[in-house]
Amino acid sequence: MEVESRNITCGNTGIGKATALDLARRGARESGNNEVVYMQLDLASLKSVRSFAETFLKTEPRLDLLINNAGVLGPGRTEEGFDMAFGVNHLGHFLLTNLLLERLKLAQQSRVVTVSALLHRLGALDFPSLSARRKPVPGQTTWGHIQAYCNSKLCNVLFTHELANQLEGTSVTCYCLHPGVITTELCRDFPAWQQLLLLPFAKLFFLDTEAGAQTTLYCALQEGIEPLSGRYFSNCSVQEVSAKARNDALSHALWMRRVLTAAAVCLLWLSSQLSSLTGLHYHLAISIGGAGLIEHGGGGG
Ligand SMILES: NC(=O)c1ccc[n+]([C@@H]2O[C@H](COP(=O)([O-])OP(=O)(O)OC[C@H]3O[C@@H](n4cnc5c(N)ncnc54)[C@H](OP(=O)(O)O)[C@@H]3O)[C@@H](O)[C@H]2O)c1
Repeated sequence: MEVESRNITCGNTGIGKATALDLARRGARESGNNEVVYMQLDLASLKSVRSFAETFLKTEPRLDLLINNAGVLGPGRTEEGFDMAFGVNHLGHFLLTNLLLERLKLAQQSRVVTVSALLHRLGALDFPSLSARRKPVPGQTTWGHIQAYCNSKLCNVLFTHELANQLEGTSVTCYCLHPGVITTELCRDFPAWQQLLLLPFAKLFFLDTEAGAQTTLYCALQEGIEPLSGRYFSNCSVQEVSAKARNDALSHALWMRRVLTAAAVCLLWLSSQLSSLTGLHYHLAISIGGAGLIEHGGGGG
């Protein structure tokens, strides 16, 4: 598949960097155009995702390939208060993909590739716990962060499954994948002693980032895989996933929650604009489907 315009989150390090370098080399070879544009995007802020998409849509008339690669494994909350792994790995990419979807549909053939992980098999979906209002667990252990990461990676697989359903009959196809076990900075937030413990295993068993980019590149470029839209790949071949990771009802429910979340965040942004324009302060709380997606205090008076 020949690709002229592609967008990768995030190409500065790890598997994303190896993927970006490979695609840049191919671009140079195929079309003589090795122009790479760097744009700021913070997936831990839905405002930043919107602003990135707005700038991208204004400046880039064509989009053939979107690679949702960025990922975190560690503590913290996003700007809107979601668990960091859930917010960055799933929610930010969900919004980004939806904002760019119409542009992807304009291309003759385009793809959305989402980097998930084998660990999605240990993931579970507990909708109330995905609420922005959920209080952070104090002193959460590394295992707690790993569990949140697994859950976010299950969201990646379900998102791809539902996206494929929604894109049926369009020129866009989508895939998700496990890149392998790769030496990167993914565990940068682990305590130093845990990183030290991991080091010998990494040296012995982990692959390098170039190997880690291969399945992403396969999903991005391989001709003829369009009938496999929505599927999960590993080692450059399609793999079966567990029943929960291809559950239509679950993936649809997750999708609808995200649509409502995006609408709620938009409403909050509008309300904050209105309040700064009118000088009025008020309190707005939005709770959808019992999940308490967003809460926002605007002050009294
Ligand atoms: N390494 C593995 O063994 C492995 C296994 C399975 C799946 N994966 C998946 O592979 C993907 C790439 O990870 P990696 O292993 O290459 O790890 P990495 O070296 O830590 O790279 C992660 C990338 O995500 C970016 N990122 C993190 N938070 C972000 C945010 N808020 N907004 C925008 N970008 C953000 C990072 O940018 P900054 O450096 O600027 O923060 C970095 O470019 C992830 O989705 C990960 O879950 C990795």
